[in-house]
Amino acid sequence: MNKHYYITTPIYYINDVPHIGHAYTTCAADVMARYKRTCGYEVFFLTGVDEHGQKAQKSALEQGIQPRELADRMLPRFVDLWKLLSITNTGFIRTTDAAHRKVVQYLFEKIYKKGDIYLGEYEDWYCVPCEGYFTELQLKGGNCPDCGRGVERLKEESYFFGMSRYGEPLLRYLEEHKEFVMPEVRHNEVASFVKGGLHDLSISRTTFDWGIPVPGNPRHVVYVWFDALVNYLTGVGFLSDMELFEKFWPCDAHLIGKDILRFHAVYWPSFLMAAELPLPKQVFAHGWWTVEGRKMSKSLHNVVDPVEMANTYGVDEFRFFLFREVPFGLDGDFSRDAIVARINGDLANDYGNLVSRSVNMIGKFLAGKLDSPGPSGGTDSHLIERTQALLAEYQKEMDAFGFYKALNAVFDLTGLVNKYIDTEAPWKLAKEDPARLSTVLYNIWNGVRICTLLLYPFMPSKTASAWRALGINRDIEKAAFDEERVFYHAGDLSPIDKIAPLFPRREG
Ligand code: MSP
Repeated sequence: MNKHYYITTPIYYINDVPHIGHAYTTCAADVMARYKRTCGYEVFFLTGVDEHGQKAQKSALEQGIQPRELADRMLPRFVDLWKLLSITNTGFIRTTDAAHRKVVQYLFEKIYKKGDIYLGEYEDWYCVPCEGYFTELQLKGGNCPDCGRGVERLKEESYFFGMSRYGEPLLRYLEEHKEFVMPEVRHNEVASFVKGGLHDLSISRTTFDWGIPVPGNPRHVVYVWFDALVNYLTGVGFLSDMELFEKFWPCDAHLIGKDILRFHAVYWPSFLMAAELPLPKQVFAHGWWTVEGRKMSKSLHNVVDPVEMANTYGVDEFRFFLFREVPFGLDGDFSRDAIVARINGDLANDYGNLVSRSVNMIGKFLAGKLDSPGPSGGTDSHLIERTQALLAEYQKEMDAFGFYKALNAVFDLTGLVNKYIDTEAPWKLAKEDPARLSTVLYNIWNGVRICTLLLYPFMPSKTASAWRALGINRDIEKAAFDEERVFYHAGDLSPIDKIAPLFPRREG
């Protein structure tokens, strides 16, 4: 196989339990990974956890345990959630892995030797209870913007990364690669930030010790974002399996939330340029979910738990909702009413009903066995041509993370096939024109099969059931987009019969 695709999610902090935001990015990466596989790509899909840093150390301290123990306790929450949500990641990284420490230290040293990392002094306003530095601008009325208490001027020895040198080359790169940061509005945001001038960046800390020691000066630990970003190299074999690394690097897409854009689109490419490594092809930043119009936060007790969502509404239904409800890239609002409306509307009424009525008719009128089509007429070629046009639209959108528009194309297709059924009325043909009936049911079967194929990346399990109900013996996970996109007559089908509703209607 010579088509490769490498996609990543952020690595998640382990001091918090996973919520809808974490599930969102990871499901998006999974949708893309599954889609690319059907298009014949060998996919490397990396996710993981970010274990180091002051926040993790503080959380552990509050619970009276070591940070490593906190990470070990929290890890299953993430691993189990990904299993529950049918995530097909091929790599999983913990930043406490020995292989990762080696890569971080190697790169730190390489950049240091090159002269782009130097030892200096960091000075700013420091809040002791929050253990954080703030700039003059960030202070509120001269006090800590987080807790409101007094701050003091503090100086600390620190290693700095000479990011100011990378402003020009980065700007050039952004201009030459418009697709590097997506959506476009984020690209513009990054470009204007870089135009404003880049400052050198403090990349070590001495005020806590939960991190990777700076090579040759273990009083310092490496700044958590340098440590975290490097996971994208470690996770794909850098230094440990260079064959794997050469195959998949540069990364095709880093999926992230908009809040961590600057780290990925400014810091990360600068680090890579300094390390003389190729830059990723794309950073795609998605929007944020609010909950019933309000910001999601622990203090408002409105944090959406993906485990509860999957258990209440179904894994596939939850995954589908995330991408059907809101254009990927924009902010969106979550509510239980909205998810129920999607289940009853798009899934039960449109797609689910289409599958049931189609297989029912094939069962009832053709004794479950699809015939070869006879001559086609105008309505048939209209169906086939429109299907091909919608397929092309779907593919164009999927390739650009346009999940929302891709799903619009799918529901145009379900509408088209439902309408074809109504106008062709197979129940009448069953009495009046059996030859025509075969052709019509052949077209319907193909239309439903293609809808199912297109929905597969979003709903891997429900579409697998529909695939079987259509009599197809091959696994939908192994379906090849290019073979399945055409109308064909399959001779090796299992008998087609009724199925129980794929998406039972919900009251609430
Ligand atoms: N550890 C860093 C990432 C390092 S990557 C090299 C981190 N971790 S995190 O656990 O805080 O990541 C959370 C992810 O969830 C981010 O991509 C963030 O955008 C996303 N979300 C957090 N809240 C969210 C919403 N309310 N809605 C959508 N996504 C949100 O950052």
